[in-house]
Amino acid sequence: MPVRTRVAVIGAGPAGLLLSHLLDRCGIESVVIDSRTREQIETTIRAGILEQGTVEVLAETGASDRVLTAGQKHEGIELRFGGEGHRIDFTDTVGRAVWLYPQHEVLKDLVAARLAAGQDLRFGVTAERVEDAGTDRPRVLARDAEGYAIEIEADVVVGADGSRSVAREAVTGAYGGYFREYPFAWFGILCEAPPSAGELIYGNSPDGFALISQRSPDVQRMYFQCDPDTDTEAYDEGQLWEMLQARVPGTTLHEGPIFQRDVLRFRSFVAHEMRRGRVVLVGDAAHTVPPTGAKGMNLAVADVVLLTDALRALLLDRDETLFDSFAETARQRIWKAQHFSWWMTSLLHVQPGASDFDRMRQLGELRTVVESRAGSTYLAEAYTGWPLPGTGHH
Ligand code: PHB
Repeated sequence: MPVRTRVAVIGAGPAGLLLSHLLDRCGIESVVIDSRTREQIETTIRAGILEQGTVEVLAETGASDRVLTAGQKHEGIELRFGGEGHRIDFTDTVGRAVWLYPQHEVLKDLVAARLAAGQDLRFGVTAERVEDAGTDRPRVLARDAEGYAIEIEADVVVGADGSRSVAREAVTGAYGGYFREYPFAWFGILCEAPPSAGELIYGNSPDGFALISQRSPDVQRMYFQCDPDTDTEAYDEGQLWEMLQARVPGTTLHEGPIFQRDVLRFRSFVAHEMRRGRVVLVGDAAHTVPPTGAKGMNLAVADVVLLTDALRALLLDRDETLFDSFAETARQRIWKAQHFSWWMTSLLHVQPGASDFDRMRQLGELRTVVESRAGSTYLAEAYTGWPLPGTGHH
């Protein structure tokens, strides 16, 4: 017997869980499946920065009360190059801010809210295929942890299943998308130490990029630019601190035991299509950005806010206008975020094989950004996030 629902959501990440939450508030029922366990979802360390609009959506819709109390408001960042720090002041330039609140905390809040609301949320259920995209009864064929087949039949299927999306094939067919790879990656660490600064530090140095980020008063997240093939065990702790410290000259990092290491590959991707018939892609299933601009999760939230309006019109008012224009509207923000993520990346990283000219030009660009109000304002506007539809600011 197939499971029947209005919206079948593949993926219990920020996009899938927030979508089911927002749909529920409009009275639209959904089923959410994810191949991972609840514990895996709630403990995997991912992004850390929420745009102001993301925070407003989470707080105003009751998806997370904790973001405003446990999250930390950041009113600027530091760009550090040539041995000196330069602050980009978000409040002064655009009157907006970002919040430091780890993605897995967002997920804990969302899972708790969905379960409390009686949401049909199934962990350990792996989607294998999406069928009948061209009909008004698309289906998800899945398998539970014991290997039993599950079929979900819905009015709309949403692929919120991340960069290795299973739903994507039903939408884009063999065509895939726009793709760019970068010749470097980030070596990331988590350590037990107090913050090294009040705000995040984005560092450019002849040795490469480093980012001094945070997770909590006693856990810090830091990254430095590395070769994509670097082994996580290639360096001992002393070497890691030396590499980090050398990339933010002029500051002194607070060191502490390193308890997690990972290498993050850099990719830019946008699927050629975000919708085919009644199957839609959101978040990383539809697009991937390099992490430099902290846009990934925020872009997923923007997709979902837009899709909620489209689904409400389609499913409650039988009005297809917003559903038909969803992909085109989403695409405009996605490409702005793609550009910003690419730009922040090229502004701050050292390209392998860069010439002396390239290096001097990059310092000129950095100086242009920090010394020009227009330059700083562009960075602040993009970093804090462009307005979302229907969240009250213009
Ligand atoms: C992080 O803390 O993981 C983080 C923060 C800012 C970025 C990217 C990653 O731009």
